[in-house]
Amino acid sequence: MRREALTVLAGLALAACAGSDRAVAQSGETPAGAMWAVNPAAPGPDLPPAGRSLFDFVASVERDGKRVYDIPFPFVALVKRVASRAGCKAADPCSRAVLIPLGRSLQRTAASPEFFRYPRVVVAFDGEPEHGAFPLLKDRLYLGYQERSNVVEVISWNEAGGRFEFQVVRDYRAGGASRVAYARRALCAACHQNLAPIFSRQVWEETNANPRVAEALETARAHALGEGAKRGDARRSIYGVPVHRGVDVPDAIDAATDRANLYAVHQRLWQEGCGDARCRAALLGAALQLRLTGDRAFDERAASWRDAFLPAFTAAWRAQWPGGLAIPNPDIPNRDPFATEGARTAQGVALSHVAARFEPLAPRPPLEVWTIEQPETARRVAAGLAAHVADADARALDAHLAARAARQRPAARRYEAPCELARAGSTLRFKCVPDDPAMPRAIRVAGRVDLAGAKIAGGEVGSLVADGAVPLEHLEVVGGTLDEVSGRIALHLASRGMHARLADGARITGVALRWKAEDVARRGTALEVSARATVTAVDEFAPVRAALAVLAEEPDGVLGAKPFGRARVLAPLFARLGVPVREWCCEDAAAFPAAEPESEEPPIPAAGPAKDLEPFYPLCASCHATGDRFPPNFLAGSGDRVAAAVRHCAPRIYARLAMWRVLPDAREKTPMPPASPLPRARDYPPPAAVAGLERMAAAMVRSETGTEPQLAHLLEDGYERLRPCLPEGK
Ligand code: HEC
Ligand code: HEC
Repeated sequence: MRREALTVLAGLALAACAGSDRAVAQSGETPAGAMWAVNPAAPGPDLPPAGRSLFDFVASVERDGKRVYDIPFPFVALVKRVASRAGCKAADPCSRAVLIPLGRSLQRTAASPEFFRYPRVVVAFDGEPEHGAFPLLKDRLYLGYQERSNVVEVISWNEAGGRFEFQVVRDYRAGGASRVAYARRALCAACHQNLAPIFSRQVWEETNANPRVAEALETARAHALGEGAKRGDARRSIYGVPVHRGVDVPDAIDAATDRANLYAVHQRLWQEGCGDARCRAALLGAALQLRLTGDRAFDERAASWRDAFLPAFTAAWRAQWPGGLAIPNPDIPNRDPFATEGARTAQGVALSHVAARFEPLAPRPPLEVWTIEQPETARRVAAGLAAHVADADARALDAHLAARAARQRPAARRYEAPCELARAGSTLRFKCVPDDPAMPRAIRVAGRVDLAGAKIAGGEVGSLVADGAVPLEHLEVVGGTLDEVSGRIALHLASRGMHARLADGARITGVALRWKAEDVARRGTALEVSARATVTAVDEFAPVRAALAVLAEEPDGVLGAKPFGRARVLAPLFARLGVPVREWCCEDAAAFPAAEPESEEPPIPAAGPAKDLEPFYPLCASCHATGDRFPPNFLAGSGDRVAAAVRHCAPRIYARLAMWRVLPDAREKTPMPPASPLPRARDYPPPAAVAGLERMAAAMVRSETGTEPQLAHLLEDGYERLRPCLPEGK
């Protein structure tokens, strides 16, 4: 136990050196023996390992063959520009936004004391345009803007790097020269432990979906705008975000962050869950079948899935994650900023106080643990990969496969089953169940047809089961013919703007029901009859299988152990199939100048006024030596500044270090350094190194007050009453 604790401490110290490769050495195991799919203690290098963020693509323009940032101001213009680059129309802007005046982000103190006048705005791009989707921003781009600090925080997917990038736009203001830097991931990872966006659980009381927050925002706005605004709509909208909104907006953002949370998991399973390209070809085939069936099903009985995917995947899983794979948790607790202790009487920056139990720095247990014994694990991987295939890609593939089959006319398959057919008024219902479900080509199908006279006006196939696959539900009836005299109805089906397809990608070319006129029984106006259903399907997926098989044989090809990039993988596949050329985007970063990192972490001082503070650097500098005043940058700047700032902050530093000695549930504030990069922190005593730092901080406090500090005494009036960490303006 002790030895392990020390190892964990060493891992923490290393993790604190941002970007250090050695941090990867930390095991990333949960107490229950599962491995974290994402290990915040090993956040990776700050700069993209390959490619660039999608934000860089949409926030830049090409000039003389080079890409340069071009970031419109104000914020509304930025959001609009990004949406139009992604092909989203004004009527369907593909994004959602909330206002968070008193939040828990890194911008929590910036607006003090005018929190309601200058709320943080958070925008998530969660939609996909009808056409194009180059770049695909859905669930992949998030912005956080705070006017008072002239900062836009960015979390953005990197197509080539297969990870979310963390960026900060500074000096973002009218007439400013905005600068974009890739942030220190170790700092972001302290709260974004999933290395992805995070969001509160329902009912999102920090956002303007809370009527009290909305009211306070509106009052502050009206006050600032003066008399003239009493009538106008100006006070009803801030940064283009309507102030009074229901929970549907934060709910949608929450859903987007939940989906994004799994991206790193999918990427890991694509690269490490399959040992070879054949396994990945089978997985990609399943993902494409899912997209072609409108995310309903894929062919789990296919030879490729059973022979090329499942055995390889199972073996790789058992070897690497015998205790399961722990899925990171993107959800932080709901928090009502008005309900927190003392909030009603708090003034100024103290209003932004966040109690330890709501603090996103606190380590979160896994959302769930996936194991290979759970049958849904393999299915989840296919579904996860399918999320990286845009609707537009699925529609293009669907149209291409149908057109190709129309030329090549592959043989049709026929399925049959006896049915009961009943008509009441203009609605016809049918239910077909095979006599012997074990028979090949047996089908089970049930649905409803809406008639307008002798015409078919619509309807739905509620459920269709063929080849023992999972039921395909809610296929649309989009046309057909009815011939009551000879007893025949033929239906055309569709699915979400595409052809209706079976799990294996075969197109359902028709559903026909036949009956004999003499069998029709009349009961008043209702009709009942026994009929026979024939469902025909054409295997249009064969060319995809063939193309995947060729790609799987390419040495170092697109199905190698690299991140799954939409363009990198789909472009060569679509080219091989002959799907019309498309403007693939956002993998090739050649036209960009070198990416800018956040200012370097300062070296540990070897001499000068900050020399004595040397022991603080390994554990604190990654987060407290940035160019920003939050979290307080007491280790940034000249030796003189550092010495003065640490002394000024000493009571707070002492309190946060001493907090390690308080039992977790009794802590008013999160201890420092935060335990979040340590999955097992809860089980360990405070690290020994922290005790040394605590003694140093205690000595500083004592030299001022003449007495030894006592945590309980110091916090008597609450943590927020302590002298602010940084001296005013320095
Ligand atoms: C102290 C905890 C904390 C740290 C550290 C932190 N964030 Fe966040 N961040 C949050 C919280 C909480 C939210 C969600 C609520 C909100 O936005 O107020 C958030 C939200 C965001 C969002 C909006 C999308 C989302 O996740 O909901 C962006 C963008 C963002 N952060 C960027 C960053 C970047 C870049 C860094 C590193 C420089 C960073 N954050 C570090 C707490 C933090
Ligand atoms: C992984 C990032 C990270 C590391 C490492 C870290 N901190 Fe922090 N620290 C934060 C964040 C984020 C906050 C702001 C949220 C809060 O107050 O809990 C913070 C807040 C603080 C505060 C409170 C400031 C205030 O205004 O009340 C003190 C003091 C502090 N840290 C001291 C330290 C010391 C000392 C170390 C090293 C032993 C350290 N921190 C290491 C991220 C970090």
